[in-house]
Amino acid sequence: MLILRRGNTWVPILLAFSNCLIALHADGYEPSKTYRNFCASCHGEKGDGAGKASRYLYPKARSFIDSPIQFATAANGIASEDDIRKVIRKGIPNSSMSSWKILTQQQIKELVKDVLAFQREGIKRKYLNLLTNDGTIDSPNEELLSNELKMQLEQLQFQRTTSSPKWEPPNSMAAADADNGKSLYQSQNCHKCHGIDGRGSYGIDLIGEFGFPVFARDLVTENYKYGDTATDYMRIIRLGIPGTKMPASTTLTDGQLIDLAEYISTLRSPQSRGLTNAQRYQRAIGQTSKKP
Ligand code: HEC
Ligand code: HEC
Repeated sequence: MLILRRGNTWVPILLAFSNCLIALHADGYEPSKTYRNFCASCHGEKGDGAGKASRYLYPKARSFIDSPIQFATAANGIASEDDIRKVIRKGIPNSSMSSWKILTQQQIKELVKDVLAFQREGIKRKYLNLLTNDGTIDSPNEELLSNELKMQLEQLQFQRTTSSPKWEPPNSMAAADADNGKSLYQSQNCHKCHGIDGRGSYGIDLIGEFGFPVFARDLVTENYKYGDTATDYMRIIRLGIPGTKMPASTTLTDGQLIDLAEYISTLRSPQSRGLTNAQRYQRAIGQTSKKP
């Protein structure tokens, strides 16, 4: 504020104010009021998962900026608007993400738009950082992009947020063979993360979002997060869970997929034993052991 003129206090005030507006604008996407009211406390005003409540949560609230949406039913593993809508309405078992079906359709529509806009914002930031690091631009500022690079960025944002048609499961489970599924469970290395008895990875260190330790699902007693039918299991096995250590098994035949899903179904004995955020964290860092 060096241009301060004696007797004219408006100049610095206006300048300070306009700087502030520019700063706000440059700081990224401004979400809807619905988002700020209901979601920001966990997911953060800027969609980065750093809301005030997030420090007490495990798993952490998703960062829409840095992480993909995990519930994705499209063949290309990218969540469709419908997937995002569903996961907001249903919530995610065994986490602090509760069901938001009390919100109106219009509000949920706004939220889906917010989530997607945050994702595009994250792609933009990565792209600008990349170009800055390799010296193409001097600083990660969108204004410095040539028209060609702007178009490239838009294409990238489109590709990474646009889902393909839904993944289609095999038609029939009729010939499912759980015994074959059981041997596949081992030959495909599922047991390395989920344990030979399916009770989870006690003793194996997996790292997930934000660098926190991760516990591969207890396939026997825990509620699953992304669906409870054999079709859901097949989709999860085929596509994996985006942004997590759960891999996509792209080489299995349909028959093998069916057998594995059947084995998972026979393994299951869900007990609605909800763990607290603290208990889930203790388990992920290996400080609790299996209970019968
Ligand atoms: C009390 C904290 C909390 C609040 C409030 C909250 N969430 Fe979440 N949300 C979470 C947590 C924790 C996760 C991650 C759960 C997991 O990984 O299992 C999550 C995950 C998500 C996901 C990712 C789903 C996926 O498949 O990857 C979406 C989308 C989402 N929340 C949207 C919302 C929206 C929209 C709102 C506001 C209506 C909201 N959340 C409010 C805690 C919260
Ligand atoms: C590298 C470790 C790893 C391997 C190998 C692995 N998984 Fe997973 N799996 C995970 C993790 C981690 C999760 C939980 C992801 C999350 O929610 O953060 C998971 C989740 C799951 C789920 C739960 C889905 C839901 O909706 O909650 C199923 C079912 C599953 N895995 C089956 C399998 C099967 C079958 C195999 C073998 C083909 C397998 N996994 C191999 C790490 C692994």
